[in-house]
Order: sequence, then C-alpha cells, then structure tokens
Amino acid sequence: MDTRWENGIYTVFLCNRIDAVNAPQVEVELLEALKAAEQKEKSELILDAVNLTYISSAGLRALLALSEATKNRIRILNVCHEVYYIFDMTGFTELFDISRTPREVSVEGCQVIGKGGFGTVYRLGNDKILKLYNSSHTFGEIERERILAREAFVSGIPSVITYDTVRCGDSFGIVFEMLRADTLGHAFASSPDKTEEYVERYVDFVKRLHEIPINSRAFPQLKTTLHNRVPSLASICSEEELTLLHSLIDSIPDSNTLVHGDLHPGNIMLRGKDFILIDLPDSSVGSKVWDVISLFRDLIVGPRNIPEAIEKSTGIPIDQIPGIGRAFFTRYLGARNDAVLQRYFGLLMPLFALNTVLFAGAPSDPSQYVPDDQVKMMMKQAIVPNEELIRQALKMFS
Ligand SMILES: Nc1ncnc2c1ncn2[C@@H]1O[C@H](COP(=O)(O)OP(=O)(O)O)[C@@H](O)[C@H]1O
Ligand SMILES: [Mg+2]
Repeated sequence: MDTRWENGIYTVFLCNRIDAVNAPQVEVELLEALKAAEQKEKSELILDAVNLTYISSAGLRALLALSEATKNRIRILNVCHEVYYIFDMTGFTELFDISRTPREVSVEGCQVIGKGGFGTVYRLGNDKILKLYNSSHTFGEIERERILAREAFVSGIPSVITYDTVRCGDSFGIVFEMLRADTLGHAFASSPDKTEEYVERYVDFVKRLHEIPINSRAFPQLKTTLHNRVPSLASICSEEELTLLHSLIDSIPDSNTLVHGDLHPGNIMLRGKDFILIDLPDSSVGSKVWDVISLFRDLIVGPRNIPEAIEKSTGIPIDQIPGIGRAFFTRYLGARNDAVLQRYFGLLMPLFALNTVLFAGAPSDPSQYVPDDQVKMMMKQAIVPNEELIRQALKMFS
C-alpha cells in the first residue's frame, strides 16, 4: 500500500479491496506503519480509504488488530458510502474516527426550482431536491447545516426530511425531501384574500414552534453565537460599546427551545394543513425573542429599508408585506388597537438595532453586510441611549 509522510502525519492509502487473500499482508503493513508513526514524536497515523471499495470480514479483523495495537483512535478518511455502511453496521465507526466521502451526484437535465445567494435548488428525481451551494462553501459548513436540519427534525420540529451531503463537481450540497408544496410567501402572494387566515396559522405555527423543547447538543447556544460576533466589531465600536454588547447579550433570557433565525414566509412550506420549516443553517437554542426580532426586521422595517431584498427572500410583493406584518404582530402580541401595536414597535426598534449590529459581526455572510457607518450610528443613537429599555424588552418578548 502507498504511504506518505507529511507534517507529522503518516498516511497509509488502503488498497482497493481488503479480503481474505490480502488481509494478512495488509495487517502486517498497518502494524509496521503504526510503529513507524509512534516512533516519531508528535506524529499521527491516518488511513486514507479513497481507493477502498470493498472490505470483507477478514479485512475488518486486520483493522481491529491495528486499533488494538494503539491507545489512539485512528482516523480513516474518504470512506465511500458502501464501505461506510459496513463500518457502521459492524461497530467500526466506534473504534475508528471515520469520515466519509460525500456521494457524487449529477444535476445534468435536472429542473431548477430555486436560486439564492448561496447557490441553486434542483429537483432530484421524483421526490427529492438538492440544495447545491456555490463552491466557496466548504464541506464542513454544509455538513453543519445538514446536521442541524436533521437534529431539528428528530427533535420534533415540523421541518423538512434531510438526506445526505453530496458532491457535485467542485461543489457540495444537501439532499432534502421534495415538499410538494409552495412557500407561505407564495401562498400570501397568490391569495391576498386569504391573508387573515394565513396570518392566523402563521402566528399559531410560530408560537407552537417556540414551545418545543430541544434536547440535542448539536445546536449552538444563541448567546454563544452572538458573543462570538462581537470581537469582529472591534474596529468599528469602542471598548465600552463592545462591553455593552456582551452585557446586553447576557441579559437575553435562557430557553431550551429553537431559534430558527430566519422565520420569514419564504422559509416555511405549506403542505396541506401543515406548515413545514426549511432553511435551518442559522438555527440555535435560545430565547424566541431573537426570532421575534428577525420577523420585525423582515416584515416591518425591511420592507421600508431594503424592499428588493425582502421581496426576493419572502416571495411576497412588497406593497403586500406591511399589511401582513401588522396583522402578524397584532395577533402575535395580542395588541388591542393600533396605539398599543405602535408602543410594542417602539420597544422592538432598539432590539432591531441590536440585531443589525450583531449581524454586521457575522462577516462571513455577505448577504448580511451592514456598512460600518450604519453600525456606528445605530450603536450611538439606538443602542447606547436605550440600554435599560433593551434589557426590559428582551425579557418582555421572551
Ligand atoms: N425541500 C424542498 N422542497 C421543495 N422546494 C424547496 C425545498 N427546499 C427549498 N425549496 C425551494 O427553494 C427555495 C430556496 O430554498 P432555501 O432553503 O430557503 O434557500 P435560501 O438559503 O436561498 O433561502 C425555497 O424558497 C423553496 O421555494
Ligand atoms: Mg430561504
């Protein structure tokens, strides 16, 4: 088998097949490689399975001998689907640290059903879709979205069924169940006469969603995500302002429920009576207040400030959105009349500023770019003078 030394890593490239014929020889070579790696300080043995397409019981025994010869959990990279299935079934995924290669798919001739800043959504066969990202997105990022979507589903969140992460040329994507449904945004757009009915169901859905407890540890904590954004604002905000941001984040009440992060009507699919969530890469565990603020951003402030972007993401004509937004918040907050609603909006405004400033601290996402002078202005005019108001409002909407 081929081997390679590089930066303290001794890689053995497993051969194409390991079966009863060559397993004894493979075992000898693996044990020799382990010895060679362990004789050098700070070095690691890694098995690369990029060529491995078949492994028999005798082959598994050879790997077992290797794992028994060391205290370390050896990594095996690039395991193909079929071999991974065997490792998983036999428990070898517990003995080794195994990463698989994504399955290869082709989108040739596939119908495009959506396009966004991230990439393209294709119809894949009869009942699946592929959300294919631009090649600038790493496998790790996409795998993370897949894991969050899967965990949301198994936690009982009404969300899309998630299959595997796949490769298509030099890009990666996630395969999801194809929902034979339209987005809530399109439903609002195509049936304005049903606005009231849809708003009622939307509000009920959001309230129900925020009552489902999440026990999975796969989700990041909302507050941790927000704290992590603050350092990247260091060149725009003063030391005191950064401290204030941390302290405001700390005053968000805790909760063990889901924050989707982007609950606008473009990310909800209507399937018969059911609402089903899609697009979960920003989800975390924490207070629902963060979803309330993002809805205020997308349904109330956004249509005035960034109408094109909001129309595109929600799929609703811009002149229709303010009415939907007001109806949503009136029902969600139980506002008796317009004066009460406006008072609530007055409280949500500084929270919106906090949300915007912290999004500016997520520089890896260009769609959420906020110019420096806008961040500075919001910090000085909407956040610093409203510190106490923000703390109260964070509790009130939690
Ligand atoms: N599982 C699915 N079934 C059917 N259509 C889908 C599915 N997932 C996404 N789409 C379509 O693709 C669009 C974009 O998908 P989404 O995951 O929201 O990506 P984006 O990150 O661009 O918002 C959706 O608005 C919807 O129309
Ligand atoms: Mg979306």
